[in-house]
Amino acid sequence: MSAFVKAARVAELAPGTMKQVAIGPRRVLLANVGGQFFAVDDTCTHEDASLSRGVLRGEWVKCPLHGSRFNVRTGEVVEDPASETLATYPVRIEGDEVWIGTPS
Ligand code: FES
Repeated sequence: MSAFVKAARVAELAPGTMKQVAIGPRRVLLANVGGQFFAVDDTCTHEDASLSRGVLRGEWVKCPLHGSRFNVRTGEVVEDPASETLATYPVRIEGDEVWIGTPS
């Protein structure tokens, strides 16, 4: 069961952009990929780097520290040195608002 919280307005994130959203103690990366929104953990699974400070290309985000790449749709590692998948979170659009679900 997920509890959804409002994370952003749709207009805040143009396609191809991303931002960090704090949801309680979690740092979540919200990305707009071609008009579809995806949410994954913002902290790289390799070390403590914020992926939202990296680069988003299509559905891949590149870590700013050592260059691991992750798929923001699935959380999967696309390029090492990271080896662990990122947690993903459900996203819901309500009107002009983006809501992210986290485990309750
Ligand atoms: S901290 Fe992200 S690749 Fe090393």
